[in-house]
Amino acid sequence: MSEARRVIAITGAGGTLGGALSRQFAGEPETDVVLSDVSAPSLEATVNGLPKSRGAVETLRADVGEVAEVEAVVGLAVERFGRLDVLISNAGVPSPNGRIHNLTTEDWERAFRVNVLGAVNGIRAAVPVMRTQRSGSIVLTASVAGLTAWSHAAPYCATKAAVIQLAKVAAVEYARDGIRINCVCPGTFRSGIHEGLPPEAIDAIAAKHPLGLGTAADLVGAYTYLASDASRWTTGSAIVVDGGYAAP
Ligand SMILES: NC(=O)c1ccc[n+]([C@@H]2O[C@H](COP(=O)([O-])OP(=O)(O)OC[C@H]3O[C@@H](n4cnc5c(N)ncnc54)[C@H](O)[C@@H]3O)[C@@H](O)[C@H]2O)c1
Repeated sequence: MSEARRVIAITGAGGTLGGALSRQFAGEPETDVVLSDVSAPSLEATVNGLPKSRGAVETLRADVGEVAEVEAVVGLAVERFGRLDVLISNAGVPSPNGRIHNLTTEDWERAFRVNVLGAVNGIRAAVPVMRTQRSGSIVLTASVAGLTAWSHAAPYCATKAAVIQLAKVAAVEYARDGIRINCVCPGTFRSGIHEGLPPEAIDAIAAKHPLGLGTAADLVGAYTYLASDASRWTTGSAIVVDGGYAAP
């Protein structure tokens, strides 16, 4: 990584976790950030909430399902700051509540397009730049849903399991290029993903977390670790941060 300054790009920066990560990294004076999201208003809300004291911030509306748009995010980092040290591929969508025989092809395609192809596109876009630098860290947001079975959420679980495996394969493929690739598996924290869920459903999910429901702030430490040199010997890992959800 650059000794003086570092450059971090974040997708899904307009969301709950993406917003918390944006505030963290933008607030580090030695870090410059490129923030992106498919939703321009959400991205703007994140930017409005950034700390006053911060490094440089660039924003770009981008759909992670389109490789050219993710390449534009990485391209902006290189054009503006000359490098990309860390890509946090964080954009993700839930799947509709339903058993497998009741879900549509569109439900499956949407989950795979954003959750899996979005992560693939992040790797495709970042790797050429990081290979030239011979350094870089790519962090994918997976979920404990990729490790445990959630009834009525098969597309979400299957796509997050795919993200965990993608991080492992990519880690092996690019280790010799100096690029580390890991994922974070959050348990449930309150976010835009839960809009529309009845309170009793949230309570039922909370009851399965020994430490209770998390917040986006509870996840930030795993990302700061993976974005730093402290994780220089960590690659291909799925770091579980879930309040004990997956422990039983
Ligand atoms: N909230 C949880 O309990 C939880 C648990 C485990 C994992 N996650 C994962 O954390 C990540 C962040 O989710 P969150 O909980 O902050 O939800 P959120 O809905 O608040 O944020 C997701 C963001 O992704 C953006 N997005 C959606 N489709 C996109 C696309 N095609 N291109 C670019 N951006 C797109 C949305 O506009 C939104 O701003 C997701 O990958 C999610 O699956 C969430």
